[in-house]
Amino acid sequence: MRVRVENVRFHYRLGEPVLKGVTLDFEGEATAIIGQNGAGKSTLVRLINGLLKPVSGEVRVGDWNTGDFSVARLARRVGLVFQNPNDQVFKSVVRDEVMFGPKNLGMSGDTALASSREALADVGLEGAMDANPYDLSLAERKLVSIASVVAMNTDVVIFDEPTIAQDYAGVQRIGTLIEKLKARGKLIIAITHDMDFVAEIFPRAVVLRRGEVIIDGSTREVFSRPDLLRDSFVEPPHATQLGQALGLSETVLSVDEAVKGIKGHRSRLGGLAGSDTAHDQQFFQ
Ligand SMILES: Nc1ncnc2c1ncn2[C@@H]1O[C@H](COP(=O)(O)OP(=O)(O)OP(=O)(O)O)[C@@H](O)[C@H]1O
Ligand SMILES: [Mg+2]
Repeated sequence: MRVRVENVRFHYRLGEPVLKGVTLDFEGEATAIIGQNGAGKSTLVRLINGLLKPVSGEVRVGDWNTGDFSVARLARRVGLVFQNPNDQVFKSVVRDEVMFGPKNLGMSGDTALASSREALADVGLEGAMDANPYDLSLAERKLVSIASVVAMNTDVVIFDEPTIAQDYAGVQRIGTLIEKLKARGKLIIAITHDMDFVAEIFPRAVVLRRGEVIIDGSTREVFSRPDLLRDSFVEPPHATQLGQALGLSETVLSVDEAVKGIKGHRSRLGGLAGSDTAHDQQFFQ
């Protein structure tokens, strides 16, 4: 499924523009949307799932113009995990919460249950079916809200800050789940402040600044522009920063790539790998 955002303008209050003519085309590639607080990221994804309608311009999900469809209809195509799970979770039993969306889309009880079980297992909460979501931690509640959306099996799945409040295991689990959804051909869009997560999972990144797209490209291209990122208060992934600090010519996105880059750099300096010469020390100063 393709999502097209065409010259979209939006404000909550007249005279205070939040999106100032945003054009983006999403098709195939999983995309990360990044940028400072208040840039308009959550607003953009609420326009894609139809909770908000553009003031001008249009948003198309497949052949549907969101202006012509209710949020309930659009939910057949677009699932959105809210930034704050407390705005999303409303049932008092996890099972009912996760099955609500699938049932609403018309899945039979059995299919909805199977889909909900699988989604809860994907987020590591298979044992929480009978829990009250409000007895869970905020991080677990976020995982419940992720499972609720994934269980709906929509073609487009949008995550607003999926890894917020998660520990390392939670982040890994969410990464694995997104990879699984990608492999199933879902269109994935995620807003995140976690740049290591962007580098690991998303081939494309879009940077929003004060309601405008300032960079849209492969994640490697985007992270190779520290000047533009600095203006948006975005710090590249740790491995990328290391590579840049060491003066590697290529932009690296992972520790493995950084290590390869360093080895290559050292061998170009004269086969110094593993040695402790003046050259070596100079390189690491
Ligand atoms: N419901 C609302 N009513 C009025 N103004 C709003 C509303 N929601 C967001 N805003 C304002 O719109 C602007 C963009 O907000 P948005 O939530 O889209 O930013 P964001 O990029 O998601 O930020 P964050 O990284 O903090 O989540 C901000 O100035 C915000 O205060
Ligand atoms: Mg937001």
